[in-house]
Amino acid sequence: MRRLKGQSSLLRTGRLIVVSNRLPIALTRGTEGEWQVRSGSGGLVTALSPVLRDLGGLWIGWPGTVGKTHPDEDIFKVSRNAGYSLIPVGLTRKEIDLYYYGFSNKVLWPLFHTLQSNCNFDPAYWAGYQAVNRKFARIIADSAKEDDYVWVHDYHLMLVAKELRALGVKCRVGFFLHTPFPPPDLLTILPWRSQIIEALMEYDLIGFQTIRDRNNFIHYLEGFVKGVHVDTRRQVCTINTPQRQFRSGAFPISIDFKEFSRRAASKTISKRAERLRTAIGANQVVLGVDRLDYSKGIPERLKAFRNALERFDDLHGKVTLVQIVVPSREEVSEYQGLKIEIEGLVGEISGKFSQPGWTPVHYMFRNFKRDELLAYYRAADIALVTPLRDGMNLVAKEFCAANVDNSGVLILSEFAGAATQLRSSALVVNPYDIESTANAIYHAYEMGPGERRKRMRNLRESVSKRDIFWWVDFFLWAATATSLNKPGSPE
Ligand code: UDP
Ligand code: G6P
Repeated sequence: MRRLKGQSSLLRTGRLIVVSNRLPIALTRGTEGEWQVRSGSGGLVTALSPVLRDLGGLWIGWPGTVGKTHPDEDIFKVSRNAGYSLIPVGLTRKEIDLYYYGFSNKVLWPLFHTLQSNCNFDPAYWAGYQAVNRKFARIIADSAKEDDYVWVHDYHLMLVAKELRALGVKCRVGFFLHTPFPPPDLLTILPWRSQIIEALMEYDLIGFQTIRDRNNFIHYLEGFVKGVHVDTRRQVCTINTPQRQFRSGAFPISIDFKEFSRRAASKTISKRAERLRTAIGANQVVLGVDRLDYSKGIPERLKAFRNALERFDDLHGKVTLVQIVVPSREEVSEYQGLKIEIEGLVGEISGKFSQPGWTPVHYMFRNFKRDELLAYYRAADIALVTPLRDGMNLVAKEFCAANVDNSGVLILSEFAGAATQLRSSALVVNPYDIESTANAIYHAYEMGPGERRKRMRNLRESVSKRDIFWWVDFFLWAATATSLNKPGSPE
């Protein structure tokens, strides 16, 4: 079993309690309509599971259902198999509407992605957000002991540390934001910004995806909060207020590189990828994989592809865009409108350019299993990862890990967190600039095998060096090290 490298005495005695909006489980209905519960399979689960098992930890979160529709025994069964406990936080229809769809997804998500025109600052959402954060805190407080470490994830739960302190919980609490953090000017438009910043300052460590996000947070503190002094001499900085001291740093999240790479190289996936290429029938396959989300820049990408077809005749009959869109947050109206816009553009491109034997865009709107996705990654010659803004973007890293023959080209938005690590060997684009993105598609199409190999080797090296295990170790080291100068930091 993989052991935690972090030298923390705290984590040697206490447990790790992971808290996120969603529990890492997948709930499906069986043939008789009964609930079936399976453990989730994302990178975060893969990386945290061994640590949680080692330390006998807990994972607290919402199972994704309305009220209590599934029997707790199902979740306890998954807990037993996982080797650590899963504790469900049940939410009512009203709580889901106000806290999840409302404040999390109509206020914080668009604002933090600098897409403020999609915000709806309904005060009822704020009340619901506070109430559910309090609910999570009460459930954590029932389990947490003084030597435990509570690690809270993402924008849904920014008030948890403050609520825990109000309940008298003494253990250390850390927070990692998976989305970007907006610049101070933008944050100031949030009516509840002071309450949120004050609540964040109750955490002992606040982790961001990039230095830019961390700096946005620090600049806000320096500009708007009295008596704050920040020591930025080390990568993990120390923030002093008249009341307390806490830490903040940039911890770019990643993937289980070795596992992605190993599975992608397997015979099964290689054969599947070959079959896909034959079925698609183009010389080169361009791939997009995104949740249905306006932050992902899917319409802009389709317009760039259309522009490339309009300006570069030699792409006709040779290049096909495979766009996978995963259903998400379907109850939010902006997401419904986006689906209609995407389908309109796909129809328009197909109508204008299709020829017998060549379909310029293959559009798929559904969930894909890991192996199916890996086959698409391997079948692709070019990945188009062009979000308007993204905390990190794991698809970019997964594409590189799966590109075991070093033949793929990554076109990457400069506004994805991943660009801070991958910019030197990807083709970096501004996703709002349709013509330049079209030029990058053409550049990638024409790129010879030598340059592709050189770039992809660098990309793969970068992702493999800082994988998801490095990320967990680095965060927990920063959370628990008594001295930030201590040798042995994963940095
Ligand atoms: N993914 C998935 N099912 C699919 C397609 C993709 O679970 O049908 C995964 C993909 O492998 C990646 C994640 O969804 O790990 C997307 O992460 P990313 O950081 O790119 O964007 P997010 O959706 O978190 O904003
Ligand atoms: C982003 C967020 C996650 C969230 C995921 C899926 O990656 O940072 O916290 O879980 O999107 O969105 P959903 O709303 O379905 O949980």
